[in-house]
This record gives sequence, C-alpha cells and structure tokens, in this order.
Amino acid sequence: MLFILLLRALPRLNPCLKCVCQLCEHTNFTCQTEGACWASVMLTNGKEEVTKSCVSLPELNAQVFCHSSKNITKTECCYTDFCNNITLHLPIASESSRRPNLGPVVLTVIVTVPVCILSIAVMLIVYTCQGRHCTFGKKKRQNIEEPLSECNLVNSGKTLKDLIYDMTTSGSGSGLPLLVQRTIARTIVLQEIVGKGRFGEVWRGKWCGEDVAVKIFSSRDERSWFREAEIYQTIMLRHENILGFIAADNKDNGTWTQLWLVSEYHEQGSLFDYLNRNTVTIDSLIKLALSIASGLAHLHMEIVGTQGKPAIAHRDLKSKNILVKKNETCAIADLGLAVRHDAVLNTIDIPQNPRVGTKRYMAPEILDDVMNMSIFESFKRADIYSLGLVYWEISRRCSIGGIIEEYQLPYYDVVPSDPSIEDMRRVVCEQKLRPNIPNQWQSCEALRIMGRIMRECWYANGAARLTALRIKKTISQLCVHEDSKA
Ligand SMILES: Nc1ncnc2c1ncn2[C@@H]1O[C@H](COP(=O)(O)OP(=O)(O)OP(=O)(O)O)[C@@H](O)[C@H]1O
Ligand SMILES: [Mg+2]
Repeated sequence: MLFILLLRALPRLNPCLKCVCQLCEHTNFTCQTEGACWASVMLTNGKEEVTKSCVSLPELNAQVFCHSSKNITKTECCYTDFCNNITLHLPIASESSRRPNLGPVVLTVIVTVPVCILSIAVMLIVYTCQGRHCTFGKKKRQNIEEPLSECNLVNSGKTLKDLIYDMTTSGSGSGLPLLVQRTIARTIVLQEIVGKGRFGEVWRGKWCGEDVAVKIFSSRDERSWFREAEIYQTIMLRHENILGFIAADNKDNGTWTQLWLVSEYHEQGSLFDYLNRNTVTIDSLIKLALSIASGLAHLHMEIVGTQGKPAIAHRDLKSKNILVKKNETCAIADLGLAVRHDAVLNTIDIPQNPRVGTKRYMAPEILDDVMNMSIFESFKRADIYSLGLVYWEISRRCSIGGIIEEYQLPYYDVVPSDPSIEDMRRVVCEQKLRPNIPNQWQSCEALRIMGRIMRECWYANGAARLTALRIKKTISQLCVHEDSKA
C-alpha cells in the first residue's frame, strides 16, 4: 500500500520533470520543473490559442494555475514527462465537436421549435413593452455599448491594485497567475507612446478604465523580456517604492512575436524627466531620497523564511530607471539586469557579465574590471555608488537662498554625452573625480547631510560605502528633524 502511495507521489516530486515548452527555443522546446507540465487553451480574437509550458512548484502551490476560468481558458496540469503534449479545446468548441450526427427530421425539429418559441416570446415582450416605460431595452443596449465586458471575466469590479493584492496575499506572493496576466494584457488598449529605451517602447495603455504602462520588447530581446518578468515576480518583491508589476504576455500575430510587460503607470514619468521639468524643495528632496533608499533597501534585503525574498542587486540604477509617483515619492523600475542571491548555495542566479548597466553610473571597480563577483555584496555596493549619483542629481535641483542649478547628468562637465567605458574609467578611477558638492549645501542641514551621504556612497573602496538600510535610517531622521522644525 505504502509503495503504491509512494509511486503516486513520485511524479509530483520529480525534480526534473520534462515538459513541452513553446517558448523555449534555446532548449529544444523543452523545459524542466519540479512542479507540473502545463497546457492551456485561450480564446484570443475569436481563435483558440494553445500554450504549453512548465509550472514551478511555488506556482503550483498557489493552486490557481491548474484551473480553467469560465469559457475563456481551459487548462491541464499533469505530472509525467511531456504529458502536456496534448490537444486541448475550449468547452464550447469541444461540445460541438462531440455532438452526434443527427438525422434531418430531428434537426428540423431542433431548429424550428426553439425559433417558434423565441418568436412568440419576442412578440409578447414587444406587446407588453408598448406604451410603457421599458427598461429592458435600455439595459440591453448598455451592455452592447460596453466594449470592455471582458473586465468582468477577470476582476468582477475590482481595481488592478485589489486584484494584485488579493492574489499576492492568498497565492505564492509573487504576482498574478499567468492566465490572469494574459487576460489582462490582451484586454489593454494602447493609447500613446511615452518613451523609448534600449529594449523597445513604453506605452500608456488603458485596462478597464485604468492607466497602465506597457513596455513592448521586440522578439529579438526575448531574453530581456523574460528576465525582467522573472525578477518582478520574485516572491515578496512587492513594495511601494518598487514599480508594481502587473503582467507579462507574449503575443504572436502570425509574423512576429510581441512581448509585453505591463506595470503601473506613473504619469510624472522618470525622475530624470521630473528633474528636467521641476525644481525641488527641501521637503520633497527628503521625500524623494527616502523613498528611493527604502525601495533599494527592500531590493537588497534578504528575507529569510518560506515567505521570504532573496537579496537582489539592481545593476542599472539611474534617474531614468526611477519613476516619480503622484505623491512625489519614487518607484524603482527596470529590473531587467538585476541579479538574485541564493543564500543557501551562496550563488548568483545568472551567469555574470560584469559590465552591464549604464556606463556613466558604473562604480569604479566595474570600470576598472576588478569587482569581486563571487561576493554578492559587491553588486549591492555598486548600486550604492549609483544611488549617490542619483542623489546628486536631485540635490542640485533644490533651491537654497534663491540659487537653483540647472539639471545635469553626473559627470556632465568631464565626459562626452555618450561616454565610453574608457572615458569613465579615466575620470572616475584614474583622476578619482566625483561630482562637485557645492559650498552652499553646507548652509542647509538637509543638503549638508545629503552631501555627506553622497561622499560615503562614492568611496573607491566598495566595502567602505554606506548600505541602503543605513542611508534610509539617516534620511528618516532628517525627516523627523524637518517635521519638528515645521
Ligand atoms: N511605468 C511607467 N510609467 C510611466 N512612464 C514610464 C514607465 N516606464 C517607463 N516610462 C517612461 O518611458 C521611458 C522609457 O523607459 P525605458 O525603461 O524603456 O528606457 P530608459 O529607462 O529611458 O532607458 P534604458 O533603456 O537605458 O533603461 C522612461 O524614461 C519613462 O519616461
Ligand atoms: Mg529604463
């Protein structure tokens, strides 16, 4: 008996269950998982679209992946090698295919009887509605005019925030189930392009009346799309100062694959955009700086336990990759280059290329190619150097005694507009130059402390730099101080 039970449990515990995976071109359309093989069919533009992939163990534990939802998706999870190599159909389609062949007489009866009943019913309704206030017709029309009735299929009147909150607190803590993500992505209406970056375009889109940001990658950048989606869905990553991820979707239009990454939309754009347009007060300087430190401290922090999160280093921190929210606090974005630390094995989750990120913001040890990549702390320390540069950009836009400096990128005065690694290395490592901290900052406590933090972020020796948590604490105290002055 025990043997039979063990045998049944075996497929579920198999650490390398092999499944069919349509997206895995590089691994011969095969993926491996500890969870389950997954096959799903979804109605897209009136056509059935089939997806086959792997479901990880945490996703499987979330219990939502293997369920079909209404008539828009049908899903199967199974536990033997390549068991998802099956043909699936939506219930409506399969019902019609299973229908037996009927004789012509029976068919005539089946068709004519309901038609007659329906005609009589319509006549009765028209008759009773005539001369009265007929609300039925109005209600019906309203439904027809509502183009996004798909919204009801997934959110039943909830906002995206509610939906994500529900899912992350009840599920695996990492994001919406894949099918919900797809359904959301496919009911977004793109409105306008808001920016362009290395990996494609960013659009403002509408989902059920709410603004969302859609980053569209070309199929050439599939790896970047996949990696960014993967990092955003790291368990327990959600934080008010990290961009809120909503959905990832890969849409094949027959000719090419469009890769979407959907996130919260912040109408003020990036911190770079914001600082170009606005000056900041001491209060908003503190608020912006504290929110970035809070986001980075959360990213860097390892939380131990089943509902914990790994330590993550960003590796491309800069004012263009930080968004400004309506309440003038920030959200760190663009996690596509981030790396995660596996504390148990003391390893980093992807093979390392040290010189990724934006050259202007690269720490001296990266420019010099002497960073010790076997220590995860090194990556965090490099982020702190970049954070210091971002703080310098904000602080320059703070008015003191009526003096405000124009917006400038760090090292604007010593390197060309698109500097090479060599340009940066000469300035940062050889000449040991750092952005100028103006004398007038000494006359204002907040700016004096921000200046001190910057210097302690810019040490050539990474180990001597402050940690994100330390910076967060120092700025919070500044916050209390400013409050008590007011
Ligand atoms: N969630 C968002 N809400 C509002 N605007 C956004 C959002 N995400 C990005 N943007 C805008 O789109 C622009 C392009 O973003 P993207 O990350 O593609 O490139 P980038 O950060 O400017 O450059 P890079 O490719 O070096 O990261 C941003 O600068 C910002 O203005
Ligand atoms: Mg960016």
